[in-house]
Amino acid sequence: MEKKNYKIRPAAFNDAERIFSLIKSYPEELLPRSISNISQNIDRFIVCEFKNKIIGTVCWQILPEIGAPRHPSIEIQSLAIEKKHHKGGIGRALINETLKRIKPLHPYQIIALTFSPVFFRKMGFREIPKQQIMHKIYMGCINCSKYNSPFTCPEIAMALTLL
Ligand SMILES: CC(C)(COP(=O)(O)OP(=O)(O)OC[C@H]1O[C@@H](n2cnc3c(N)ncnc32)[C@H](O)[C@@H]1OP(=O)(O)O)[C@@H](O)C(=O)NCCC(=O)NCCS
Repeated sequence: MEKKNYKIRPAAFNDAERIFSLIKSYPEELLPRSISNISQNIDRFIVCEFKNKIIGTVCWQILPEIGAPRHPSIEIQSLAIEKKHHKGGIGRALINETLKRIKPLHPYQIIALTFSPVFFRKMGFREIPKQQIMHKIYMGCINCSKYNSPFTCPEIAMALTLL
């Protein structure tokens, strides 16, 4: 698909239902999110619109730090492109827009837990041991009901260090 045919833009409240469906269409790859949770975090979602339809989305979350957090980490979440539009450059465009939005905050690094390491490597991310993201483990993975330990979970931890 030619880049000029689609639009990358910030999400709005009325995109929440479609974002919900996109995330829900990848039960193996993505953590489920309720429409309410999406709406409450809508200011950190970006969408890709093609012919008046949302065909891709991504969002980010600032991870907690102890003490005075001058350069916290940010996690990329809920990255989903409609299947028939895969390999058309939309994933890259959504990540690039996310980086543009995040970089002015001067985070230390951007992380992702993913089953698509090849895609993230192409975006400049590198694999890291999960022990380096204990804040993420304690904040999210600790409540995971899919795997009994984050260290045996097959998702791969990846990071893009910005500082
Ligand atoms: C992973 C995902 C977001 C990639 O989106 P996409 O729009 O297909 O990616 P792009 O077309 O922008 O690809 C960018 C590069 O990554 C490569 N790539 C994308 N998906 C790939 C895959 N599954 N395996 C190998 N390479 C892949 C592309 O070939 C392209 O390489 P190039 O720059 O050398 O041409 C998409 O497959 C998806 O929605 N997957 C299901 C949900 C998911 O796994 N999300 C990630 C969870 S963190």
